Amino acid sequence: MTGVSPLIGPVLLLGAAGQLGQALAPRLARLGAVVPLTRADVDLERLDDVRALVRRVRPGLVVNAAAYTGVDDAEGHEARCRLVNEMVPAVLAEETARLRVPLVHFSTNYVFDGLQPMPYTEDAPPSPLSVYGATKADGERAVAAANPRHLIVRAAAVYGGSGRTFMRRILELAREREELRVVDDQYVSPTPAWVLAHATVAAIDHLLAEHPAAQGLLHLTTTGAASWHAFALRILELDPDRAAHRVRSVVAVDTAGYPTPARRPANGVLDTGKAERELGIRLPGWEEALRRTWAGEGACR
Ligand SMILES: NC(=O)c1ccc[n+]([C@@H]2O[C@H](COP(=O)([O-])OP(=O)(O)OC[C@H]3O[C@@H](n4cnc5c(N)ncnc54)[C@H](OP(=O)(O)O)[C@@H]3O)[C@@H](O)[C@H]2O)c1
Repeated sequence: MTGVSPLIGPVLLLGAAGQLGQALAPRLARLGAVVPLTRADVDLERLDDVRALVRRVRPGLVVNAAAYTGVDDAEGHEARCRLVNEMVPAVLAEETARLRVPLVHFSTNYVFDGLQPMPYTEDAPPSPLSVYGATKADGERAVAAANPRHLIVRAAAVYGGSGRTFMRRILELAREREELRVVDDQYVSPTPAWVLAHATVAAIDHLLAEHPAAQGLLHLTTTGAASWHAFALRILELDPDRAAHRVRSVVAVDTAGYPTPARRPANGVLDTGKAERELGIRLPGWEEALRRTWAGEGACR
């Protein structure tokens, strides 16, 4: 894109070792010098260190890809989850507002209860079912309250990179077991980290150019929807190492047959119309994105 304002100051990337952070770092480099920080550089639970860090680096843009993402684990660790998912974004928003620079933050479809039949638009009111979802919703509010120059990207079902994602788990289990049981009454738009990173950087271009649609909330996922069961079947079909599979059947189970500590939304599909129509960001269908990921695009799985 042309006409993007040059950044004054580096791009501070938090959560650089996470699956999204890893995909973002190389793509952010065209905006400015990236300062990629991991847990080894700063423990985000130490809020004073986070504040001091932003003051020391004096970034031109902060991108927060860090989060407490253990959805089930969060049910028993609300205080720690809240610290990372609400308090850290609040501090980042305060400090970026003080510097008068934009803050890009990530949130999730888990802010919704998944009960409505249609995909969720940006203006749907949050109604989380889990501690993780509630802390992410509160993080959104904290960012919006403290820095008007913000972009909150809501994502869903992100896979790729080195994390313990659904895709990686399915591939491991397919080599170990003859039967897999996968939930088929929860729907998502599975999104490779590289697609999310690419679309986010496109949105940041618009944010820096002060495009009104690139401020506030923005849903960025692939298009279309699949149950986790349908996603698992497609992953296994497209796996070039299919010959190594032991699995003979992938059984569809409902949520009640697969109890987890955290409740998850049945409809996890986000409406991406705002990004596509107002910002011209092209988002691939979930199957196309999966095929391209297997073909090596994005250089991460
Ligand atoms: N994954 C999904 O399906 C999904 C879906 C929707 C939205 N999102 C959102 O997308 C964003 C990126 O998620 P992701 O999938 O990339 O998650 P991830 O792979 O778990 O990465 C999160 C990163 O945050 C770091 N972090 C957490 N607590 C920290 C602390 N106290 N100090 C320093 N670093 C800390 C983690 O470090 P360690 O590795 O050292 O723990 C990790 O590198 C998050 O905002 C998440 O809520 C993700």
